[in-house]
Amino acid sequence: MQFILFVGANNTLAAEELAVQIEKATQIFPNIYHFEMADINEAKTIAEKLGSSIKLAVLLENISSDAKSISKQIKEKNFSISLLGKKEKTNKLHQEIKDNLQKGRFIIPKDEFGISPVINKKHKIDEFFLDIDNNQVWQTIWVHNFSHWIKKDRHMPHVDPRAGMLPPKIARSLVNLVPLSPHGKTLVDPFCGSGRILVEAAELGYQIAGADIVANQAQDTFENLQSMNFSAKIEVLDATHLSGKFTDIDAIVTEPFLGKSKFRPDEIRYIVPGLEKLYLGCLKDWLKVLKPGGFVVMIFPWFDDGKKVYKTSEIIDGKLLLSYNHVKRGIFYSRPDADVKREIIVLQKQ
Ligand SMILES: C[S@@+](CC[C@H](N)C(=O)[O-])C[C@H]1O[C@@H](n2cnc3c(N)ncnc32)[C@H](O)[C@@H]1O
Repeated sequence: MQFILFVGANNTLAAEELAVQIEKATQIFPNIYHFEMADINEAKTIAEKLGSSIKLAVLLENISSDAKSISKQIKEKNFSISLLGKKEKTNKLHQEIKDNLQKGRFIIPKDEFGISPVINKKHKIDEFFLDIDNNQVWQTIWVHNFSHWIKKDRHMPHVDPRAGMLPPKIARSLVNLVPLSPHGKTLVDPFCGSGRILVEAAELGYQIAGADIVANQAQDTFENLQSMNFSAKIEVLDATHLSGKFTDIDAIVTEPFLGKSKFRPDEIRYIVPGLEKLYLGCLKDWLKVLKPGGFVVMIFPWFDDGKKVYKTSEIIDGKLLLSYNHVKRGIFYSRPDADVKREIIVLQKQ
């Protein structure tokens, strides 16, 4: 069966998450990917697992993209039609179908991604995407659980936007860069903050553990996890000393300390060496706790002082090359207004 998946962000993180989790997914429009899978439940399960997924649609086999054929597919009271990957409105077609059906109410989508998941869930709507060129009709079969994502983003016991918490969907995509099946595997975040990465890893089925140098942060992580009915060993320690308390880890996924949040451009050249020393210390220590073949997914900040771009990820090009394979580098995630660009790197212990 053929499916199209709408992703929330057109960035390299979404593209890489799909590349790891879905075999042969191909990008057909900036935010839309196509893939094939044996059955609908399997496709829904994978869509549910991803952080970047928003909406999933299936190809209706042997259905033409004309008003009469589509009318026959409408079961609900409401319907909505978009042109796949195109912004053009379909008002005339909507009216034609309504006249055909002699009932129902149509909802005009606001853009080429169709109606929002909130509207889709709230009202019973049959939603279709037409590919007129290929005479194909796709029907929405799943939308992301936005209320659960909002709960994790805003309504945990400890939420502090100033502390630089990761958006849950980004945290989920990071965890999904680990090319492992989570069952029975241990995942650790040594800079756990408020536990965003660990919550996502636990939901995916990993056995989780974490650490933070600040006792309050470790406690926040513990209580956030507890509020979701997860429990984990959370240590208060310096991430460069993880090997003092942990062993046999399958994957480390982390957003490390990225430097103080406010700084002047002329301070950058003093900030970067300190961070590089920290990251190098961590990656050396983590070799002692990772299983052979274990993975590290880590964010490295890039700073620009106007004269030079400081790429902290360049530390992995030195002696560490002997101990880690570079699985992937050059995955980027950053907010458009952010001072610091973030490069995500996936390493594997040799
Ligand atoms: C960028 S925050 C992580 C935020 C986390 N990803 C979240 O979304 O909640 C970095 C965390 O690293 C902790 N930290 C700073 N230096 C550390 C070190 N040397 N070892 C361990 N944790 C450290 C800070 O207390 C902070 O909680």
